[in-house]
Amino acid sequence: MPTVEWNRRTWGRTHSWERSGDEWAFMAAYCRQPYEEWKGSLVDTLLVPGAARGTSLEIGPGHGRWTEHLLAHSPEVWIVDVNESCLERCRERFADHRGLKVHHTPGCSMDPVPDASVDFLWSFDVFVHLDPDVVVGYLAEAARVMAPGATGVVHHAGKPDWSLRLAPLNRRAGRPGKIAQRWISQRRWRDDGNRSDVSPEAFARWAREAGLEVTGQRTSWGPEDQYTVDKYRDCVTELRKPA
Ligand SMILES: C[S@@+](CC[C@H](N)C(=O)[O-])C[C@H]1O[C@@H](n2cnc3c(N)ncnc32)[C@H](O)[C@@H]1O
Repeated sequence: MPTVEWNRRTWGRTHSWERSGDEWAFMAAYCRQPYEEWKGSLVDTLLVPGAARGTSLEIGPGHGRWTEHLLAHSPEVWIVDVNESCLERCRERFADHRGLKVHHTPGCSMDPVPDASVDFLWSFDVFVHLDPDVVVGYLAEAARVMAPGATGVVHHAGKPDWSLRLAPLNRRAGRPGKIAQRWISQRRWRDDGNRSDVSPEAFARWAREAGLEVTGQRTSWGPEDQYTVDKYRDCVTELRKPA
């Protein structure tokens, strides 16, 4: 499972960030779409309408692949990351933006972000690697910092609920069990993208328990639903803090 320590090590030390996040073009390749169109459509469909509402908060900005677009539409943008090196890179890259606010989190806290101050929450390519306890912690924090009526878009792992119930059994079966579990939960024999054991149902349940509404869950978007996050069977959940 991708622990907080694994995330710190992988994105803070191992990963080389050769294109500031744009090196992750595989989702677009998987759905046979040009990366720039896939990314542009994601930004226009899911990011801009929320960011235009006011203050935004991004969990796990990395080197700023989406932060750039949040800053183009929000007067104030909080970025929260476990890696100081990622936050430092964003500080340098967006030095001209006075609206950028930064928090280095130990795992899922957002202490300096005031209650009910955020109009839009965004996180892409981050929750897919977060263990359930960290997801639950962040959803509680999201409910605290989101203003009434605020919205959110979170990309996370979307393994079927029923397949996760078989995980303890398969874990006991060693390597063959691991391969079987990957196939039933992600339809993949190899390369699970380091996805955490989270289902759309569990994510929605935890969000509701935290006091948030789930306004939608999707795996695709675009005029012909041609853009997807299906390579590793991911899901995008849209949230709203009740007014
Ligand atoms: C795969 S990178 C994605 C970066 C960026 N969202 C993108 O799509 O280009 C994952 C990012 O999430 C951050 N991260 C991992 N675990 C985190 C956590 N518990 N809280 C905040 N950020 C975290 C990593 O440090 C890294 O910046």
